This record gives sequence, C-alpha cells and structure tokens, in this order.
Amino acid sequence: MRYRFVLSVVSLTALLLVGTGFLTWRFVHRGFSTRNQPGKIEVMLATTLRRAAIPAGERELKVPVQATPDVLREGMAHWADHCASCHGNNGNGETMYGKTMYPRPPDMRLEPTQELSDGELYSTIKNGVRLSGMPAFGEPGDDDIDSWKLVAFIRHLPKLTEQEELQMEQLNPKTPEELQEEREEQQFLNGDGSPASPKTSTTHHKKG
Ligand code: HEC
Repeated sequence: MRYRFVLSVVSLTALLLVGTGFLTWRFVHRGFSTRNQPGKIEVMLATTLRRAAIPAGERELKVPVQATPDVLREGMAHWADHCASCHGNNGNGETMYGKTMYPRPPDMRLEPTQELSDGELYSTIKNGVRLSGMPAFGEPGDDDIDSWKLVAFIRHLPKLTEQEELQMEQLNPKTPEELQEEREEQQFLNGDGSPASPKTSTTHHKKG
C-alpha cells in the first residue's frame, strides 16, 4: 500500500517535471512573440474560462433594440470609430493591429462569433477580455443602449454591403496627416490654390 503511494507520488512528480521541462524548452525555443498563433489547448482553455466568466444572468439577455436602419447606422458609426482599428470595418480582424495581436481578434462574421448569445456579445463589450487586447467599453452604470446597438451591428456583419464598407471608411478615425491630405485633395478638386491643380498648371503652360 505504502509502496504504491510512494510510486504514484514519484511518477506524478516525474510527469510534472517532464511537462514543465517540455514547456520551458518550447518557450525558450520559440520565444514569446505575439506573431505566433495561440495553440489549440491554449485556445480551448481560454475560451472555456471566458465563457465561465460571463456574469450570471447576462448570458440570457436578449438585444432590447430592433435592428432598424437607424440603429444599424448608429452601431456602424460607433464600430467604425472605436472597434475597426482592431476588428476591421467588415469584422474580419485583418487590420494592422489585429494581425499580430495575441490572441487575434476573430473573424466576427463567422459562426463561432455569430453563435454566441446576444448577452455574451454584450457582456464581452461591457467587460472586455482579460489577457487579450479586447478593452471594456462604457462606464459601469452607463445607459447600455450603445453596447446593444453594437450587438445589433455585429449580427449585421455577415450581410455588410460594399457600399456600407465605403461609408465606414469615411467614419474611421483619421491621423492629422490623413486629415491634411484630405484637405489638400479637396483643395485640388476645387482648384483653389494648390500648385498641382489643373488651373495652376494651365496658367503655367500658357506662361511658358
Ligand atoms: C485594441 C484592440 C481591440 C479593440 C479596439 C476592440 N477589440 Fe474586440 N476584441 C479584440 C481581441 C484581441 C479579441 C479576441 C479576444 C479573445 O480571443 O479572447 C476581441 C474580441 C471581441 C469580441 C468577442 C468575439 C468572439 O467571437 O469571441 C467581441 C464581441 C468584441 N471584441 C467586440 C468589440 C467591439 C464592439 C469593439 C468596439 C466598441 C471592440 N471589440 C474593440 C480586440 C479589440
């Protein structure tokens, strides 16, 4: 009896040592770059923990707004402004940040996201996801209607039209350089003052 107990403890310790040794070797060998895709076991563990962490009662909540054109337009504008930098306008996650985050933002048009309940989507937006780049949005106690409009828009992602995507590009946040570029482009189109404008160059040709 005693012999068996000692044997089990020794085997378990040996197993733990081998396991830890293997993981250490793997980390040292592969490094910690966020360019690597998370492994299957890691994804499974993280997904299970994330699901378990949804506060009681939130999972069953249903989106309380109708997906009217107005609601979708507001959700779309909010998404383009706050979410698209990581998730992309169309939700595929193929953005400069999204492509090398760890974990990556998923393609939200696909089943694994679309099959989440309204409450799970809402809770993720309100609470964020720990140990990932997904932030929590809105202040606790806020009127939550904006988060629900985002849920309505996430449901619309698989049906997003090209025209809607173009509209969103106008709503994406712009850097001062991009704004300056847009101003110059507008000036060019109006033909006022830009050295490269057709008006100026015609005058120049006449003079020459
Ligand atoms: C800084 C980057 C970043 C921004 C900005 C961001 N997200 Fe995320 N989001 C992520 C990442 C990374 C994940 C994946 C988390 C994971 O795998 O656990 C994620 C996951 C999600 C999920 C869960 C999807 C799923 O299938 O599990 C939802 C819903 C979501 N985000 C909504 C939003 C909304 C709405 C906004 C804007 C209000 C937003 N996110 C802004 C990075 C971001």
